[in-house]
Amino acid sequence: MSISTTTQCDFVLFGALGDLAQRKLFPALYQLERSELLHDDTRILALARQEVDEAAFKAETLERLKDRIPEEQRDPDSIKRFFSKVEFMRLDFLSPEGYDQLKAWKSDTDAPLLIYMATPPLIYGGIGANLKASGCIERSTRVVVEKPIGHSLESSHEINSQLAEYFDESQLYRIDHYLGKETVQNLIALRFANNLFETQWNQKYISHVEITVAEKVGIEGRWGYFDKAGQLRDMVQNHLLQLLCLIAMDPPSDLSADSIRDEKVKVLKALKPITPDVMEGHMVRGQYTAGNIDGKSVPGYLEEEDANRGSSTETFVAIKAEICNWRWAGVPFYMRTGKRMPEKLSEIIIHFKPAPHYIFDPDQKHIANNKLIIRLQPDEGISLQVLTKDQGLDKGMRLRQGPLQLSFSEAFNTGRVPDAYERLLWEFIKGNQYLFVRRDEVEWAWKWIDQIISGWEELGLAPKKYSAGSWGPVSSIAMIARDGRSWYEDV
Ligand code: BG6
Repeated sequence: MSISTTTQCDFVLFGALGDLAQRKLFPALYQLERSELLHDDTRILALARQEVDEAAFKAETLERLKDRIPEEQRDPDSIKRFFSKVEFMRLDFLSPEGYDQLKAWKSDTDAPLLIYMATPPLIYGGIGANLKASGCIERSTRVVVEKPIGHSLESSHEINSQLAEYFDESQLYRIDHYLGKETVQNLIALRFANNLFETQWNQKYISHVEITVAEKVGIEGRWGYFDKAGQLRDMVQNHLLQLLCLIAMDPPSDLSADSIRDEKVKVLKALKPITPDVMEGHMVRGQYTAGNIDGKSVPGYLEEEDANRGSSTETFVAIKAEICNWRWAGVPFYMRTGKRMPEKLSEIIIHFKPAPHYIFDPDQKHIANNKLIIRLQPDEGISLQVLTKDQGLDKGMRLRQGPLQLSFSEAFNTGRVPDAYERLLWEFIKGNQYLFVRRDEVEWAWKWIDQIISGWEELGLAPKKYSAGSWGPVSSIAMIARDGRSWYEDV
């Protein structure tokens, strides 16, 4: 039996046999069912262009679920309940035929129609037109769209305008799965529920901020898509800028979607453009060559399957960003993200300034500042590095830097930290937009990214090589070292 907070809905998934649906969305929907968060009468209609029947679709989806869900979480009752909610329909998304059948299916209930477009963004408009023409769109209809929303300001504007022809902004849920990660949610709680941090959260007390999103994986068969995008468009335009916004934004007046998104937009507007004259000190592009990860040799980017051997697409970027406002003037935000790094690691490090007058051993002065480490993955948690006295008579007043630690899985004994897609689908079903991205956020982010890309083009800035399994080109270390600093794991 479902718990009382659940809402009945008719959930329609376009692209149900695609990688995203099979790898992320069905496992997330299954976990919601297992946690009894899906209303008993919820229906899930899987739409795909392939000629398969419902039984074959379910069998395939169950097999893929087994790869993603650990055995102890696959209890037969939940699986049975889940698949009894799932139906399959073949649909050619861009042809009007078939949408009448969708409309007829929908007419069976009064539940709101929730649509997930797990399809290439170029066809969002075509799907919207067919939904509209067949009378499927009502005031209560909501729709999730996936990134990338375009590859530039102009193309994102076009996609957003097409969507706006069929849906009001309050019906649109643009997903950035980083906003569904448990620690990202906790960042909001940490910042706005603890006055302790708010008083310190500005240029007076913070010297700089680091954001690292490192991946071990390479291109994973996505060369065609990735090579047109590159790491700046694929990761910085969305995930890293969203993290930057959550760190840098002013406290919203409440937790409503628009209050939070208004504050994030102010940060994006205040980002200082990285123009060609300052590009050298503010930006590094990299591309991996063959190397070693976990003792295994891996090919370089240009040797991956389907690679265009002459590509100059970046698989790594490091950026020194600056925010032009009272709170952050003079505080660099160093961001770095890359493929084929030594570990999968996403973390934010807030470096506080040292105390104004230092009275301990001069040789320890370099450790005398606090750091707040917010780890998104792996081992989600928050730790505050504080200075205490080293224990023992012989130690005198020697200092020791140690963590005040909060590991979410240990502290709350929850056993399982929900995947980002679970959280986002759950918020979508409840009709809460605060973890989704508004049109102006996407467009302001593109505006900043576009001027970086046109700067590269103007300067002919080719990516620097780095070996797979390293932390990126040496110029990334040099970029931060020029300011007398180093990346956290290099200390
Ligand atoms: C996606 C990017 O948005 O995020 C991928 O398109 C990337 O290239 C992925 O690998 C990383 O997500 P996560 O949650 O594994 O850090």
